[in-house]
Amino acid sequence: MNWYDKAIIYQIYPKSFQDTNNDGIGDLKGIIKRLNYVKDMGFNTIWLNPIFVSPQVDNGYDVSNYFAIDPILGDTNDFSEMIEKAHRLGLHIILDLPINHTSDQHPWFQDAVEKDNSIFKDYYIWHKEVNGHEPNNWGSFFGGSVWEKNPHNPKEYYFHLFDKRMPDLNWKNPEAQKSIADIAKFWIEKGVDGFRLDAFIHVAKANFAQNSLDNSTKFPIDDQFYAKLPKVKNYMAGFVKEIKQIKPDVFLFGEASSATARDAAEYTRPNEHVCDVVVNSDNYGEIFDDSNADIPRFFQSRKLSLDSLKKTYVTWESVLDQVSLPTLTWGNHDISRVLDRLNLPVNDSRVTKLLATLLFLQRGIPVIYYGEEIGMHGLKYEHISNFHDQRALDLIKTLRQKGYKDSNILQLLNNQDEMTARGPMQWDTSKYYGFSKKQPWNWAKTEPICVDEEIKNSNSIMMFYRELLKIKQHDCFTNGNFQLLITKPQFYAYLRKTPQQSGLVVVNFSDQESNFNLPVGKWHTVLANSDVQVVDGVLKIQPWGSCAFETKS
Ligand code: GLC
Ligand code: CA
Repeated sequence: MNWYDKAIIYQIYPKSFQDTNNDGIGDLKGIIKRLNYVKDMGFNTIWLNPIFVSPQVDNGYDVSNYFAIDPILGDTNDFSEMIEKAHRLGLHIILDLPINHTSDQHPWFQDAVEKDNSIFKDYYIWHKEVNGHEPNNWGSFFGGSVWEKNPHNPKEYYFHLFDKRMPDLNWKNPEAQKSIADIAKFWIEKGVDGFRLDAFIHVAKANFAQNSLDNSTKFPIDDQFYAKLPKVKNYMAGFVKEIKQIKPDVFLFGEASSATARDAAEYTRPNEHVCDVVVNSDNYGEIFDDSNADIPRFFQSRKLSLDSLKKTYVTWESVLDQVSLPTLTWGNHDISRVLDRLNLPVNDSRVTKLLATLLFLQRGIPVIYYGEEIGMHGLKYEHISNFHDQRALDLIKTLRQKGYKDSNILQLLNNQDEMTARGPMQWDTSKYYGFSKKQPWNWAKTEPICVDEEIKNSNSIMMFYRELLKIKQHDCFTNGNFQLLITKPQFYAYLRKTPQQSGLVVVNFSDQESNFNLPVGKWHTVLANSDVQVVDGVLKIQPWGSCAFETKS
């Protein structure tokens, strides 16, 4: 058993957590200040979004120096202090490591564009123009072609899956692989406990001579050419071996947005693995309103389907059984907050508590996005001009061309855009919620809830999360196997069993009171979001009720 088999991860977006020098941007000193809070909540591991030196084209995922902290966040001393204090409190720290690409401002790339004989030329992916055009029609995740002209040689292109200011590294090159491993080693020596491997499923690319047959747009996004190719495992093998050699219990948390359960098993299989767990972004049980073809899927309104959630987790739990742990998450920095996204009656705090109970007591590692534990909503911007991310800009352009009113576009953006989820953490009742004295870098109206108020109220979402995370650490909810119970459609209920102890979770996903027949056993309630009444083995469960039970260990 490794320490990370018991991980309860708190995802911190450093720019939005706590500002200490009042420039409106969160910083490492702010994180240090709040480590006690993290510990008291019951988290034991922190994942920080990227903190390395970056031009911030993609909020830190574009790195220009991997060996230093971005000055807007702090410096190496702050970093050491953060690690030291975290470890003293028993908290582990995981850094987000972009390994698929660097910034175009990285010295390797700068040298490579300037000189053909640069020793870093082969760190990146180049191709000569073909008939005066891009080498193929592959589309970038951030829009347009994956190919961009070398500014010093317009007959040559470089490859970028994300923004054109984020050139992809060439993982075919063992030197490049080694350099990435050196970065990881450097931070391990500074005390880091693990890494989120950003976009690792994209490090292998298909043969560039092929074109996508999808002709719906000029540069279609076509995963078959650059996601989950078999070579990913080969390329990553050396890297993983090298860093596990110097720190066998380094936790590798692989980000694989489109991974299925089978892919996850493939990447986490003991002894030949790329990472210890996989986190994807497809497990929210959403069904999209596909009725309007004008609206790209990402921005469509969506509903939570309990049925689809059940199928998803039965699959993940069974495919990963005996292999690795699933990750359990309602969201992250790439998608709007769960309370805004899924069209649920979230003004009823029972619903927020229910969502947490349903998911986090399953077998697996909870990954909780900062603010979720107090029921934070996303920012509600007043105008579409407040949105600057590429996906939003593309949506505005397309829908305006189709004659949509700005107010309608604004509503879509406020419900689904990722920037709404990156608002300042809400600590107290002051103007900027105690995040900063200056207007935060990302700022708009939102629900005025905060830590200082919730801590005084034993019935608050925050206090409920504290209880929940304590219970998560019980033997049955950490180590037990997972069995979904076949029940009426409005229930989500499962058992967690070890030889010593059993746990049971029952959730009533409806606005009607209902009866639930408990499985045979001596159950006692350990957590509930509303009144629990059990008479003769029948649980009377409130509308939007959720309860967890255990047998004595
Ligand atoms: C991951 C990150 C996302 C980033 C991308 C490129 O998907 O979660 O925020 O834009 O990788 O690094
Ligand atoms: Ca600051």
